[in-house]
Amino acid sequence: MAEPSKTEQRKAEHVNIILQENVSAEYNYWNDVRLVHTALPEIDLDDVDVSVKFFGKRLEAPLIISSMTGGFGMGKEINGNLAKAAAEVGVAMGVGSQRAALEKPELEPTYAVVKDYGVPLVFANLGAPQLVPQEGKRAYGVADARKAITMIEADAIIIHLNFLQEVVQPEGDRRAKGCLPAIKALATKFPLMAKETGAGISRETAQKLKAAGARAIDVGGLGGTSFSAVEHYRARKEAASLKERLGATFWNWGIPTPASILLADVGLPLVATGGVRSGLDVAKGIALGATMAGMAKPMLEAARVSADAAVQELRAVVEELKAAMFLTGSTSIKALQERPVIVSPPTASWLEAGEA
Ligand SMILES: Cc1cc2nc3c(=O)[nH]c(=O)nc-3n(C[C@H](O)[C@H](O)[C@H](O)COP(=O)(O)O)c2cc1C
Repeated sequence: MAEPSKTEQRKAEHVNIILQENVSAEYNYWNDVRLVHTALPEIDLDDVDVSVKFFGKRLEAPLIISSMTGGFGMGKEINGNLAKAAAEVGVAMGVGSQRAALEKPELEPTYAVVKDYGVPLVFANLGAPQLVPQEGKRAYGVADARKAITMIEADAIIIHLNFLQEVVQPEGDRRAKGCLPAIKALATKFPLMAKETGAGISRETAQKLKAAGARAIDVGGLGGTSFSAVEHYRARKEAASLKERLGATFWNWGIPTPASILLADVGLPLVATGGVRSGLDVAKGIALGATMAGMAKPMLEAARVSADAAVQELRAVVEELKAAMFLTGSTSIKALQERPVIVSPPTASWLEAGEA
């Protein structure tokens, strides 16, 4: 077996750190969001229909297993378990950045394993920083995106925005100029969703992404896994003290997920990701206006154990979502989107500020 590439090593380190250390944002912004209880729902629990259409596909529940992995040894097993669970429960799934396999084709099976299970909606994944030339590295273009999509027979591609991570990462990519036109070029060829990875999307960014042709936005907001925290631990291991400090300083940087859902509402379907830990959080995200919710870390923890554990986690989340819908008298995702929501500070302060 050839030496692991840098990208491959980094992927393995991320997963290990996320499983071993506390890398969550300090504040749970979902606690600032409340749904209004309906004492007389006048619907039966059995009437509650959590199915949804997203990117033209019917899903049994408005859930996406967020983009995480592939590209290193354990990635194949984790993606296999996630795909099996997504297919069984009927939800969407994304794979992690496919850069590792574009650099080193023998890593393709760690992503392509998702093809074996019949997941109803699959997203390929590449990073926006890789769409422009970085020091010593060429930019990825339409042909690379097509390769990533074909590799896993994806229905659409996610382009992730992760400049917070890049700036605190020991070997991060620092060039962001030109990413927007590069996203636009891909969006004319493929169904594309833009996604933050933990720092949220502002109204201004959402408008730019819409104009560039993104079909949906995953707000990937602050409140869950903090990649600044992850990079803090990586830098500590490498005794890179400045980066260790940067990672700590920016640990809680970003727009809270619930605020980002409201701010990024520019008429595109939204995915609520970032700190979603229960079906009640999913319900809150939808009541704020999202169509779907995404979960990463809880699914990684489950899939590391088994596909069954991942199924159990998804089913528990669906049951919680159904309970929240019953208790708000919502028979459909559309009805839940129209229910009133109480938002308190500090999340509410973001909304008062308006153009975050
Ligand atoms: C192990 C791990 C690897 C990740 N890798 C990627 C990635 O390659 N591409 C991406 O778009 N997001 C990636 N993410 C970010 C997640 O998709 C998600 O946006 C973020 O973790 C917040 O969700 P959470 O709070 O439920 O973990 C990764 C997350 C985890 C936990």
